[in-house]
Amino acid sequence: EINFDWLNALPKVELHLHLEGSLEPELMFTLAKRNNVKIPFTSVEQIKEAYQFNNLQDFLDIYYQGADVLVVEQDFYDLTWAYLLKCQQQNVLHVEPFFDPQTHTARGIDFSTIIDGINRALVDGREKLGISSELILCFLRHLSEDDAFITLQQAIPHLDKIKAVGLDSSEKGHPPEKFSRVFAKARELGLLTVAHAGEEGPAEYIWTALNDLKVSRVDHGVSAIFDKALMEYLIAAQMPLTICPLSNTKLKVFADMSEHTILQMLELGVCVTVNSDDPAYFGGYMTENFVVLRDSLAMTKAQAKRLVSNSIKGSFTSLEYKNTMQ
Ligand code: ADE
Ligand code: ZN
Repeated sequence: EINFDWLNALPKVELHLHLEGSLEPELMFTLAKRNNVKIPFTSVEQIKEAYQFNNLQDFLDIYYQGADVLVVEQDFYDLTWAYLLKCQQQNVLHVEPFFDPQTHTARGIDFSTIIDGINRALVDGREKLGISSELILCFLRHLSEDDAFITLQQAIPHLDKIKAVGLDSSEKGHPPEKFSRVFAKARELGLLTVAHAGEEGPAEYIWTALNDLKVSRVDHGVSAIFDKALMEYLIAAQMPLTICPLSNTKLKVFADMSEHTILQMLELGVCVTVNSDDPAYFGGYMTENFVVLRDSLAMTKAQAKRLVSNSIKGSFTSLEYKNTMQ
């Protein structure tokens, strides 16, 4: 259909994508078989039925379980490569994916197995597909500060492959400031910082992500709309928010796409961007996320272009390369 074609052809940039969240049911079955890992599903249809969530935690429980099929380096390569092939199909030129090392190291998998598989695919993505990338290591906020420190320590031999650290998993009850010292150490190591904040949690968590973690972008950040002073700050600072429309409706942050505030924020001058979060679980990659904004919110072509332009501005690539993408 014509509008899908136009939005698919539009060159795009993705700043909020969990590699573990791009694990499609078909690849999950393939890897389960290859690694002899038991999964509680017998068909793709059964998996798709299970993907109905009332909130973030419902989703996380199933997402961590799905990741159990990732065992050897080649699995992490295959996962990342499949995502990059999707990016190629949808004209996504640059990506800054997250990975959750603790999900895997907790099962006895070496940090280097995970990152070497991912990195090898990202290198191939640059060389064979022309897709540039920067990798972001996310700490799981439901785990302890100590656990995050151990993970950061494991990352030190691999700093050449990592651009930034982030913070994800269960938001409520795990405010950003729980990780102030870990993030300070990461910044000392030369890493940039981002954090999920204001997805299900309050606007206060966005303030502490900014002030205590010194983030360069806020992941989600939709609850900012409830705090006038915060909105003014985000606009003045042109702080990028990585918004994920399909994720927000699947996890019931918004009851319906027609209620999503992304275009309101855009028109107020907030540097909002469009992203897919966990596309294998939420029903769509980049193009589908743009398509729902057009279908439910009457997004114009000019707005779509501004959303992409915000992603380029908010990305962690060099200014020189940003200029070639504009
Ligand atoms: N991990 C994967 N997707 C996530 C999300 N939307 N929020 C928090 N943690 C996540
Ligand atoms: Zn996310």
